[in-house]
Amino acid sequence: MIYSVSIASGMLYRSVIKKVLFKIHPDTVHEHLLKSGKLAGQLQPVRGTLGALWSYQNEAYLAQMLAGVRFRNPIGLSAGFDTNFELPPLLRAVGFGHMEGGSVTYEPCPGNAHPWFYRLPHSKSLVVHKGLANEGTERVAERIGRYPSKMFADFPCNISVAMTNAAHVCDEQKAIDDYAGSVEVLKATGVGDIITLNISCPNTCNGEPFTTKSSLARLLDAIDAIGARQPLFLKMPADLSWKQFKPLLETAADHSIAGVIISNLVKDRSLVHPDDKLTPEIKGNLSGKPTWTTSNELIKKTRQTFGDRFVIIGVGGVFSAEDAYTKICLGADLVSLITGMIFEGPQLIGQINRDLVKLLEQDGFTNISQAIGSNLRKMNPK
Ligand SMILES: Cc1cc2nc3c(=O)[nH]c(=O)nc-3n(C[C@H](O)[C@H](O)[C@H](O)COP(=O)(O)O)c2cc1C
Repeated sequence: MIYSVSIASGMLYRSVIKKVLFKIHPDTVHEHLLKSGKLAGQLQPVRGTLGALWSYQNEAYLAQMLAGVRFRNPIGLSAGFDTNFELPPLLRAVGFGHMEGGSVTYEPCPGNAHPWFYRLPHSKSLVVHKGLANEGTERVAERIGRYPSKMFADFPCNISVAMTNAAHVCDEQKAIDDYAGSVEVLKATGVGDIITLNISCPNTCNGEPFTTKSSLARLLDAIDAIGARQPLFLKMPADLSWKQFKPLLETAADHSIAGVIISNLVKDRSLVHPDDKLTPEIKGNLSGKPTWTTSNELIKKTRQTFGDRFVIIGVGGVFSAEDAYTKICLGADLVSLITGMIFEGPQLIGQINRDLVKLLEQDGFTNISQAIGSNLRKMNPK
């Protein structure tokens, strides 16, 4: 019965709600969604109803302990959708297993000039040019601290920290101090189960200065010296060759980085479907299906080369349980998404978890941990 409700919700979303929403500018939709989602999350009857209709939990098959944190299921919200942590009650209710909010920056930041988003329906993608608009680490940490502690007891809270998008944070030392300032705030307030250093925001005025081995080492030396309680993850760029990507992982492995999130938006516009009109005046980088192949390739190589050194969160182009399972079998421990939910509807999270259990059963696995990297073992049997 609940399964049919979930399927029907998906059909209703795709055939009616999405058609209406996709006629409105995505910046406006995002703004209204945050306001209504915040309100809806405050109402217990709404949370209860959405949870009963859409959320699917099966801890025997889907729960895992990773980096000292317990995840009730592997499907998380990726960074950039709930930047200021206004939606945790709603996200938990619809069945996410974890969330990454942010990216937040040490100084509050208005972001780039609008428009921030542009839809590419044929490519199943969004062009993103938000430029790290956020309320600042201190204010966001206060908000997280005000939620009841049980909110994140079974729904880990990952806080993504980036470098303030402002011209005065221009040289390397200022940028390191800026990241360190955020991590100090999170250490002092103690909020969050994980801190992620986002070194790969592609649409900011200072570029991506920590995507070389030596500069990343200097950043991570400074962050390690702070000694935050929360495990540290790195959000990795998507546009580097393996030759450039691997040294970053080696540097991370030499520091206290427990996990890597693979990966961020892509820049390559040749991946856009010819029926989507993407002109050069539309600024930004691509989410969704154009990120799929790169992200999978990097997940696979990271797991093959670094074994169990890192927890891997696979991100990019997940629209179904089969997509999530592909990333898991290539080596991802957990999977996060944004664009799939925007295109398919919020019932997708429960549907993915429900169908993942079926896929695990079909392959004879009794817990998701057994499936992680299983395709690599088939490629290289011992
Ligand atoms: C609207 C939007 C905003 C984003 N903002 C951030 C951000 O602030 N920090 C970050 O690390 N990634 C950000 N991303 C990248 C996503 O976290 C994710 O890596 C990427 O979209 C690929 O996943 P998807 O295909 O499921 O959307 C953003 C993506 C979208 C769609």
